[in-house]
Amino acid sequence: MTFKNVLDNFPLLEKRNYLSTASIGLVPISVIEKSTDIFTELAQGGTIALDEEKEVYIYENLRNESSKLLGCSKEEIAIFNSVTEALNIIAWSIGLKSGNVISTSEEFPSVTYPWIRQGKDSSLNLEFIKSKEGCISTEELINRIDKNTEIVVLSHVEYSTGQKFDLAEIAEAAHEVDALLIVDGIQAAGYCPLDVKKWNVDVYITGSYKWLCAPFGTAISYISPILCEKLEPAFAGWRSADDMWNFRPEELVFTNNAKKFEYSTSAYSAKIGLAEAIHYILNLGINNIENYSEKLIKILLEELEHIKGVNLINPPSRGSIVTFNMNQTDITKIGKLLGLLPRPINITIRQNRLRISPHFYNTESDILDFIKEFKKIIKKHE
Ligand SMILES: Cc1ncc(COP(=O)(O)O)c(C=O)c1O
Repeated sequence: MTFKNVLDNFPLLEKRNYLSTASIGLVPISVIEKSTDIFTELAQGGTIALDEEKEVYIYENLRNESSKLLGCSKEEIAIFNSVTEALNIIAWSIGLKSGNVISTSEEFPSVTYPWIRQGKDSSLNLEFIKSKEGCISTEELINRIDKNTEIVVLSHVEYSTGQKFDLAEIAEAAHEVDALLIVDGIQAAGYCPLDVKKWNVDVYITGSYKWLCAPFGTAISYISPILCEKLEPAFAGWRSADDMWNFRPEELVFTNNAKKFEYSTSAYSAKIGLAEAIHYILNLGINNIENYSEKLIKILLEELEHIKGVNLINPPSRGSIVTFNMNQTDITKIGKLLGLLPRPINITIRQNRLRISPHFYNTESDILDFIKEFKKIIKKHE
């Protein structure tokens, strides 16, 4: 199958070969319209455009779509403004004072920083599983989990290498010693099927602006009911209360589900945008997107394997991210030159690696175009 029929929704692709969804995903026109309509209505209409019913609906509609995406109930979803914010709220609500947190040396900083910060005024210890040739051994990670482990925190798909983890396997190992598995899914959600219940993770957070093709300004999180019940939110505001419209400054009774971690008003247009984008992605079919992207990635890998000097990062399982570095070639310069072509090619450089991250709106010819231009550039610089 192809997703060629979606291209009208992404006008940029006529002019550019955009292969950088792991940085920022393109937003379909239909999502932009929904999001900007409400933005304009609120800006011009104030309370006329946003009554109490609508303010509730915006969050509940997003909660509903999110539960379909993640495979859980609405009551298990909390809505935040960014993945970093969500990771911090969860970390500070758990409030570990001692024990070990396990993560990896390939993580995005927002995954590990909340625990490093907490370790500054507690005896909590952060252990990193070190990558070898860019890859993390799941076996080593699982073997490292022991009775002193309180938390395993990692990305479902690593941002810089594309490595994808088997979450069920890691959750099982963590739970054997009563540790928690907290997952950052921003590089996976929107690209591959999610099933937080089957995997039995404790927390699964994801954000709007990459593979879910929505505007900046929203993150959603599954929080397991058992963990949710145990935790006292570290932060509180009017939206955390069981009845948020019953403004009671002298008494705080938290909502009895994941909503208790929410606390304030926010960019409502971003929430509307994410709900619409999830609906759009679910309509395309997550399995279809994954199968399609796997085909693009296969073509890309087969081509790259034959190019001299390319050192591919080869994880045992991956998301829609391919990265490599090169012997004696300035990869940043190559990235810049790709961006200067008549039909510029957008890739990202991370950790001195060139990262290509195609989504359903890319085509096989985008991949082959990248390969052709990349080969020309490196030939010139030999
Ligand atoms: C794995 C991962 N987590 C978190 C983030 C940042 O998320 P946010 O901007 O929503 O805080 C990124 C951004 O690149 C990322 O790759």
